[in-house]
Amino acid sequence: MTNWPDEVDPTGHDLRLLTDELRAGHRVVRNARGEWVLLGYAEVEATATDAERFSSAVSAHLQVPNGLDGEEHAEARRVLDRYLTAEAVAPFETRFREIARDLVASLPTETDAVRDLGAVFAVRAQSAWLGWPASLEPRLLDWMQANHAATRSGERARMAQVADDFDDLIRGVLEPRRLNPTDDLTSRLMADGWKERPFTDEELVSILRNWTGGDLGSIALCVGVLAAHLSLDPALQARLRSGVSDAELDAVIDEILRLDDPFVTNRRKATCPVTVAGVEIGEGEVVKLNWTSANRDESVFGVDIFDPVGHAARNLVYGTGPHVCPGRALATMELRIAVQELLAATSAVFPGERDPEREVHPVGGYRRVPIALAR
Ligand code: HEM
Repeated sequence: MTNWPDEVDPTGHDLRLLTDELRAGHRVVRNARGEWVLLGYAEVEATATDAERFSSAVSAHLQVPNGLDGEEHAEARRVLDRYLTAEAVAPFETRFREIARDLVASLPTETDAVRDLGAVFAVRAQSAWLGWPASLEPRLLDWMQANHAATRSGERARMAQVADDFDDLIRGVLEPRRLNPTDDLTSRLMADGWKERPFTDEELVSILRNWTGGDLGSIALCVGVLAAHLSLDPALQARLRSGVSDAELDAVIDEILRLDDPFVTNRRKATCPVTVAGVEIGEGEVVKLNWTSANRDESVFGVDIFDPVGHAARNLVYGTGPHVCPGRALATMELRIAVQELLAATSAVFPGERDPEREVHPVGGYRRVPIALAR
C-alpha cells in the first residue's frame, strides 16, 4: 500500500502514466484526502458489483439515481432507464446527424476537437434530446468550462457554486413548462414520478443534472480522445472511411476510450470493515473506483494492445454493476455520429500545429486537442 502523492496535479501531465506506474506495485493506494483509490481491474469490478458492502450514498446532496442504494435505487432506474434505451433514443439519430454535419462543415481547417467540436456537439445534441431551446447554448458552454475549472481547482466552495448555477439553469427550463407543458422529453419527465407520486422539484433537478451535467462534459472529453487518437492513426482513419458497420465502429470507439478513459472515477462508501487486495478499509471510509486505471490493467488487457472485439466484454468505460451507465446507448450513438460525420467531411484529420493539452485530475482526457482538417 502506498500514498498517492497528490490527486490535484496542476501540471496537466498525463495521469494515466502515474496510475500505470502505481498499479505495477499496488492495487489500492490512499490519496491526500484519505480516500482509498482502487487501481486494479479485479478490485474495481468487485467493488462496483458489491452494492451491499459499498454504498453509493457518498454525497450530502440528493443524487437521483447516482447516490441511491438498494430498492430505492432499483426503482429509480426502472423509471428513468425507459428514457435511455436504444429504442427510446433512436428517433433522435437524424437530428443528431444534422447537428454534427452542420457543425463539422462550419469548422475552420485548424480547430480544437474538445472545445469547438466535442463541447458544441454535446450541448446541441443534448438540447435536441431534452427539448431545450438553442438560446441556452452559450450558458451551457460557459457552464461546462466553469465546471471543469472548478473540478480542476479542487475547491469545494467553487464546485458548490457551479452546481448551484446549474440547478438555477435547470429550474429556468422547468418553470415555463409548468404553465405550458411542451411535447418534449423534459415535459414528459415532469409528468412522471415514482414511489406512487410525482417527482418533486428537487428530484427533477437532480435527474436532469445527472443527465446533462455528466453527459455534456463526458461527450466533449470522449470526442477529444477519439480525435486525438484518430489524428495519429491514418491507417485506422482509412479503414473507418472505407465503410465499417455501426457495431464495428462502436467497438473501435469503446476500445480507444478504454485505453484513455476520460471518465476517471466514481466514489463509494464502505458499509462495514472490508479488505480489498490485502488493504483493510474501515466502515464509512470513501473508496474511489478508478475506471481509467482498471481499463488499462495489463493483467486483463495486456500492454497497449488494441483489440476492439477481444476486449469488448471486459471494457469498463461505462462502468458495471447496479450503477452501470444508463446513458450508454445515447452516448454510443452520439459518439458514433460525431466520428462518422468528422470522417465523412474530411479526407484526413491530422494533428494540429500545437500539441494537445491533457486535462487535470480528476478530469481525464484532454483539455485541448488541436487538429487540422483536410477536406
Ligand atoms: C459520454 C460518455 C459517458 C461515459 C464514459 C459514462 C460513464 C459512466 C460510468 C462509468 C458510470 C458508473 C458510475 C458508478 O458506478 O458510480 C455512469 C453512470 C451514470 N451515467 Fe454515464 N457515462 C456517459 C454518458 C452518459 C449519458 C449520455 C447519460 C445520460 C444522458 C449518462 C447518465 C448516467 C447516470 C444517470 C449514471 C448513474 C447511474 C446510477 O447510479 O445508477 N451517462 N456513467
